Amino acid sequence: MRTVPATINRPPYALTGNPGPSISSNIRTEEEIQRMRLAGNAAAEVLLEVEEFIQPGVTTDRIDQEIHESILARDAYPSPLNYRGYPKSVCTSVNEVICHGIPDSRPLVDGDIVNVDVTIYMGEVHGDTSVTFFVGDVDQESKRLVFETRAALYAGIDSVKPGEPINAIGSAIEKHARQHDLGVVREFIGHGIGTEFHSGLQIKHYYDPYDSTVIVPGMTFTIEPMLTLGSPVCEMWDDDWTAVTRDGSRTAQFEHTLLVTEEGVEILTVTRDGVAPADEILKLNN
Ligand code: MF3
Ligand code: CO
Ligand code: CO
Repeated sequence: MRTVPATINRPPYALTGNPGPSISSNIRTEEEIQRMRLAGNAAAEVLLEVEEFIQPGVTTDRIDQEIHESILARDAYPSPLNYRGYPKSVCTSVNEVICHGIPDSRPLVDGDIVNVDVTIYMGEVHGDTSVTFFVGDVDQESKRLVFETRAALYAGIDSVKPGEPINAIGSAIEKHARQHDLGVVREFIGHGIGTEFHSGLQIKHYYDPYDSTVIVPGMTFTIEPMLTLGSPVCEMWDDDWTAVTRDGSRTAQFEHTLLVTEEGVEILTVTRDGVAPADEILKLNN
């Protein structure tokens, strides 16, 4: 496990690995929201920095190292480190890996797609965001998967409206996926986020008719759809983290941390200049 200087403020689970049960409210105070804007800015900026390292031959361990150092340089803590015992500072999910891929010594290969999922703990709140990068020359089907997964995230974001049911998000994502003949992974969902990495709110990426939760201003949560070219059925590696598609088909993911406002929604995981990594990165790659 990489080390973190004693001067950096850690989340409560950093020592034991155990976050305990979620106890926080679904609604943030104005003051918490202000701190979440800063954590969101930092997460987006760290994720954007990674772009230049994504190329054939670079190991996911190297990406972990760069992100770890970039987060420490901001006097912040890499939220994944020791979260439920997770051994690294970031998740890197390559090709058929759906999510929670553990950085290792495998070099990226021309034609890979890799999701990098950055979460940062700063000012005692978390900011969580991910994008799927192209490594060198990627085939058309994989590109389509990545673009439509990003579009599915934005379709979900567009359906965030105070007073509306929270299951409108999954409904919009599922509809987009179906229109493009892509699968939606059901085992991993978006989550409330704030002083806790994962708090009570559940954001499914498919339509759940039984979820009657209403969207309210002050809620902060992630949307992070995982779409697949083939079947969305999952399997877990025996490291108990790495989730892969059972049929080996490729899968992509994008994630933002969001704030529900009186008018609609604010994306918290943008840079201080208002740039969303999801938008910038695909521009650079095309
Ligand atoms: N960042 C992931 C999410 O979007 C969670 C990773 S948990 C970890 O919720 F322990 F694997 F880091
Ligand atoms: Co998340
Ligand atoms: Co994440």
